[in-house]
Amino acid sequence: MKILITGGAGMVGSHCAEYFARKKHQIVVVDNLMRSKIFGSKNKSVEYNWHYLETLKNIQLLKKDIRDRAEMQRIFKREKPDVVIHAAGQPGVRFSLEDPLEDYAINATGTLNVLEALRLTNKKGVFIYCSTNKVYGDNGNSLPIRETEMRYAYKRGKGISEDFGIDRTGHTPYGVSKLAGDLYAQDYAYVYGLKCGVFRMSCIYGTRQFGFEDQGWLAWFAIRFLLGKPITIYGDGKQIRDVLWVEDLARAYEKFIESGLQGEVFNIGGGPQNTLSLLELVAALKNVTQKNVKINFGAWRKFDQKVYVSDIRRAGRLLRWKPTVSPRQGIEKMVAWISQNPRLFKGNAPLDRR
Ligand SMILES: NC(=O)c1ccc[n+]([C@@H]2O[C@H](COP(=O)([O-])OP(=O)(O)OC[C@H]3O[C@@H](n4cnc5c(N)ncnc54)[C@H](O)[C@@H]3O)[C@@H](O)[C@H]2O)c1
Repeated sequence: MKILITGGAGMVGSHCAEYFARKKHQIVVVDNLMRSKIFGSKNKSVEYNWHYLETLKNIQLLKKDIRDRAEMQRIFKREKPDVVIHAAGQPGVRFSLEDPLEDYAINATGTLNVLEALRLTNKKGVFIYCSTNKVYGDNGNSLPIRETEMRYAYKRGKGISEDFGIDRTGHTPYGVSKLAGDLYAQDYAYVYGLKCGVFRMSCIYGTRQFGFEDQGWLAWFAIRFLLGKPITIYGDGKQIRDVLWVEDLARAYEKFIESGLQGEVFNIGGGPQNTLSLLELVAALKNVTQKNVKINFGAWRKFDQKVYVSDIRRAGRLLRWKPTVSPRQGIEKMVAWISQNPRLFKGNAPLDRR
């Protein structure tokens, strides 16, 4: 199969590229390497992933911008991909608050450009959309929660399912622009018959993740620990998320590609079995790294959720899929990768821009 991966230099995209290239598929990566710019960093981040992918077989790299509709159509006409994994995006809530138009151009218009290029060149094409739990906005806060010493938790239930409301609630521009892409993907399945899988992702983490304070919190905390730098926790640190190791995500995409399913929406994450609070992550990092850093506490961030846990039973049932990597195993792998690549982080001013 020929698989075109937008955002292929990013954390999710580069792992998907590696995962499918190792299975001998032909991979075309499209990325304009703008992650560092989005997060105001002068340092290189996804450029490292770009060079890493250059060392692998079966991967063609194209430095292109998904906002350029004509360019997308040229690429699709020439490459004729069977499958598209659309991982390119602006993933930061703060950036979206500061520049909602740019956020929209990348996440909403960029997605429509890619979908349309696929529709025009391959009506049987498969489209995988990296959506987000943020599409539920404040509705995600409607379940009753309880508090214990280290974490919050839902009082009952298995987490947020796909039939949770997406409107008549508060969002951020990021939530709205990603939701636009999410709905377009569903609609291209409904109206044009493309095989679209929308994956509303919770916290995805992995190696080659250049976490910033605003995005990629697990990587950000791990990097700070290994640099011996302080961390600021906004709120009391008991907020929890379900966390999913990125290769488990790539496996879910693969299951969808191989399935007979056509237009589907999945909430995807580690689910109730794989959750972490910020305080628990700090405790785990102390234990794994045998280091300690100063933890500062700041005011709650306005759009933070105390609890978000994905109900992953639909993905389990329809894709015969479940997470295989526990948070502890994932943290150990992440710490090992950062420790093995100190030059990427030492004296790394932009990753330490506060
Ligand atoms: N990582 C997570 O926990 C998570 C959770 C929910 C949703 N998502 C979504 O998944 C996708 C991938 O996330 P990630 O963590 O790999 O982020 P990432 O920032 O590591 O990867 C995104 C990639 O897209 C590229 N990109 C941005 N704008 C572009 C443009 N205009 N043209 C071409 N390339 C562009 C960036 O350079 C980057 O390499 C994003 O769309 C994000 O919204 C991620």
